[in-house]
Amino acid sequence: MTAATIDGRARAASLRAGIAVQVAAFAARVGRAPGLAVVLVGEDPASSVYVRAKGRATAEAGMRGAEHRLPADTPEAELLALVDRLNADPAIDGILVQLPLPPHIDAAQVTARIDPDKDVDGFHPVNAGRLATGLPGFVPCTPLGCLMLLRGVLGSLSGLEAVVVGRSNIVGKPMAQLLLAESCTVTVAHSRTRDLDAHLARVDIVVAAVGRANMIRGNQLKSGATVIDVGINRTEAGLVGDVDFASAAQVAGAITPVPGGVGPMTIACLLRNTLVSAARREGVPIDEAGL
Ligand code: GUN
Repeated sequence: MTAATIDGRARAASLRAGIAVQVAAFAARVGRAPGLAVVLVGEDPASSVYVRAKGRATAEAGMRGAEHRLPADTPEAELLALVDRLNADPAIDGILVQLPLPPHIDAAQVTARIDPDKDVDGFHPVNAGRLATGLPGFVPCTPLGCLMLLRGVLGSLSGLEAVVVGRSNIVGKPMAQLLLAESCTVTVAHSRTRDLDAHLARVDIVVAAVGRANMIRGNQLKSGATVIDVGINRTEAGLVGDVDFASAAQVAGAITPVPGGVGPMTIACLLRNTLVSAARREGVPIDEAGL
């Protein structure tokens, strides 16, 4: 069997088109566009690429983007003061401080300084707690995008067995919470997991988010499994995921490619969270479920 390729670019484009329509309606009603502030400290090349892509997507959706580029040696206090100003700015609905931050800055402290109701990254401990307890908040963009792709392939996820490989705060942990909320039976595997093969062999859903090129192969998967590959690994052969696509596609039912799978969904979900934030803050009804 050859797996269906999950087209993240197409799904993200349709999500962005739906967002743009609701952004226009919001702006007509409120008299301003939703505003997203993106803060980049230093000149990490990968981060610069992401920030530029976010700025472009923000403008295309009809939102107002405010980019703050600070030098790598910016004191932590200065960054915290900028976050305070953005928290207090009524035209800013979403604040994103690009990670990683330079080593002299405590990223956890900066993340915790962002108003949880403007935390469109969903990294604030309050939003992690809201997700874990089923309260409305903001869900991190990458796992939210993964969930949208899974729903598109499988419809209801209720009762399915899932393994999340990786336990990061940004992807693995929130992904596990989202799948649990969808009534999956969830296992979180990581570098100390004793028998990863035994877990992979029995599950319907695999989400790989470890950052190790091609570490999961087709012979480890259950036939017909849905595979979501969050990995973006630079190798001599180009960009590859955490899943060996060629062998996995022989066994899986559906699989995301790298690139063109999860990646485009992440930015679309950032726009979604920003629109949702603006609507909540202004008390304007939008169709959150349709996004
Ligand atoms: N660095 C890599 N991915 C992300 C992301 O989604 N948000 C932020 N703030 N930093 C990142």
